[in-house]
Amino acid sequence: MAETASATHVRHGSSIGQPLTRRDGVLKVTGQARYAADNHPPGMLHAALAVSSIARGRVTALDIAAARAHPGVVEVMTPANRPPLALDPDAKTGPFVFRMEVLQDDRVRYAGQPIAVVIAETLEAATEGAALLAPRYAAEPVEAGLDAADVFVPEMVGPGAPAREGYGDVEAGLAAAARRVEAVYETPAQYHNAMEPHAVVAAWEGDRLTLDTPSQGLAWAQDRIAGLFGLPPENIHIRSPFLGGGFGSKGVISGPQVLGILAARLVGRPVKLVLRREQMYGPVGHRAPTRQRLRIGAGEDGGLTALDHQVRTATSRFDDFIEPAGSVSHTLYAAPAIAIGYDAVRLDTGTPLFMRAPGEASGSIALESAIDEMALACGMDPLEFRLRNYAEVEPISGKPFSSKALRDCYAQGAARFGWAGRPLQPRQMRDENGLLVGWGMGTATFPALMFHGQARAVLRRDGTGLAELGAQDMGQGAWTALAQLAADSMGLELDQLEFRAGDSRLPDAGIAGGSAHTATAGAALHNAGAEVIARLAELAMADRRSPLFGAGNAGVVARGGSLLRRDDESRGESYGEILARAGLEEIEGRGSGAMDPAVQEHYATHAHGAVFAEVKVDPELGQIRATRLVGAFAAGRIVNPRLVRSQYYGGMIWGVSFALHEQAVMDKRTGRVMNANLGEYHVPVNADVPSLEAILVDEVDPHVNPLGIKGVGEIGITGTAGAVANAVWHATGVRVRRFPIALEELA
Ligand code: MOS
Repeated sequence: MAETASATHVRHGSSIGQPLTRRDGVLKVTGQARYAADNHPPGMLHAALAVSSIARGRVTALDIAAARAHPGVVEVMTPANRPPLALDPDAKTGPFVFRMEVLQDDRVRYAGQPIAVVIAETLEAATEGAALLAPRYAAEPVEAGLDAADVFVPEMVGPGAPAREGYGDVEAGLAAAARRVEAVYETPAQYHNAMEPHAVVAAWEGDRLTLDTPSQGLAWAQDRIAGLFGLPPENIHIRSPFLGGGFGSKGVISGPQVLGILAARLVGRPVKLVLRREQMYGPVGHRAPTRQRLRIGAGEDGGLTALDHQVRTATSRFDDFIEPAGSVSHTLYAAPAIAIGYDAVRLDTGTPLFMRAPGEASGSIALESAIDEMALACGMDPLEFRLRNYAEVEPISGKPFSSKALRDCYAQGAARFGWAGRPLQPRQMRDENGLLVGWGMGTATFPALMFHGQARAVLRRDGTGLAELGAQDMGQGAWTALAQLAADSMGLELDQLEFRAGDSRLPDAGIAGGSAHTATAGAALHNAGAEVIARLAELAMADRRSPLFGAGNAGVVARGGSLLRRDDESRGESYGEILARAGLEEIEGRGSGAMDPAVQEHYATHAHGAVFAEVKVDPELGQIRATRLVGAFAAGRIVNPRLVRSQYYGGMIWGVSFALHEQAVMDKRTGRVMNANLGEYHVPVNADVPSLEAILVDEVDPHVNPLGIKGVGEIGITGTAGAVANAVWHATGVRVRRFPIALEELA
């Protein structure tokens, strides 16, 4: 916040906190919002991927002649004629750089890997051409399950967290415990099934490239492509105004997008390449499966004596991404000894990647289930047990929380749900139709992060303003929430502000991920707004003709497009008057946003919540319905309650999905995902979604960042998945530890 002029004070509250509807909503519901694949530059061709049906080996033959002979086919791109790249696509040049398969050779690393690209005048011709390639392979045996032989202990998990953490003597804590729970929980592989598949429309002009492609991080994407093609980043222009969902898989540029760019290079015309739904199951990441062993000890009083969380997960044979499923155990419950560890196997799959609440989602369903099991072992109500083990400081670091209104979340959620009076034992409640009814709960948590972002703010003589940055809207509402923050920082009404985003030519706003975008981009906008107001105020306060002259010590406030004296708000003038007198058309400010290292050093920063779930289970058929969910979340300042609720609902629905629906079923003999389609890869549809309620619990965080904003995008999955699983146990008395819970395990 170094840019903020101390004498200048923007009055907050005009726009922040308003439950505005999405400013892009009308565009979206009328089909006017242009997603990447809606762009058809003149002369554009269509590309279709041919993908491998084996998971490991080599491609020995492709019938290129047959594909080329098909009417409309223009070219077939294979390793033999693929244009060269300036950088090895397998080079690891940074922690967020992943290896990609872009026809560098005839190796097959996983099923669904691109092995050729057919480029044609029509999508139909390209698709038929790809089918005519009729690949032959030299197949090798595959490893596709968590019991694979090639086990290793990773050095790091996620993009850079330690793989071994802990303190205290876990074994002694377990030995001394009056109650012990030891259990193994399994979570499946999940695939990012965004409504909008990965798509690219690539157009070269000499060594300049224009791309329409959905990206959660424009500057990263620009850098990655610039590196691969040996071009300066400014030669790569990426437009990504709307994403039809990202969930982490659009956080980095992936192989298929690069193949679209290469195809356009090869044929010298613009090319559009869109993944088919089943092609999403391989080259663009997934949530890795986990097997988590939890050992928990508790004393007679219900206080934890030890917590041991050991994670087995999987990564690909050729790259590393380790799902950080133990991370929730850092944070959530106080215990005198905690140990977290990992090992992993190498499988013949695509490399796993970030997927909404990476680590926390898988880890939370295991930890919340185990905590529930321990509450029962101690004969305590699950909420009482969690309160008994409430972490007053972050267990792993000993740091105080920058804020933590989790007690309020528990209390408000429990009251709203009607938790009091829940029978301790399972299988005690039935509804009027004889269905078993169960109630379960879980604690939600997600780190409050910030990345690096920049923004530019302009005030114009006509009284309007402009705020711009290369931010991304995945559907979470960035077009609205960030504009609210910008208008607020510039002392403008929202309708006085022009807001630009989603373009790589704008200042780098960082990545829309880690639930950090609003805090990061919002801080950048806030600082840019503060700077432009400070510059304008300097102009006025130094000018004898201004009513603000001499206001320096008391300062000015910016409101409704005017600067007013703090010591007498009846005296002031409009931005336009100040600029006109100075002979300026406009004035600009720039700002950046990032986590203050001192905050990170002194505080643990997390959002928290409590989720309460009701399920009904058919006692004969085992059919499970989630019927009611109440989540109470505390995440600092709420920029737009309507959008925040929507984020919580989305996360909570994913939690239901995690507990009851979603899994990629792997054929371990072939390494193929057997349900690579939305018919058989189950995600909740409307009929699966219970009554949802999200309570926005007041929380003022004076430390996390100057705006007091924590993220809200991912936390809803955590807590919810475990709450639903615990409710299923409470309904049936059957503890299922392999997710999603299948009805045949209950009957
Ligand atoms: Mo998300 S997995 O932080 O894009």
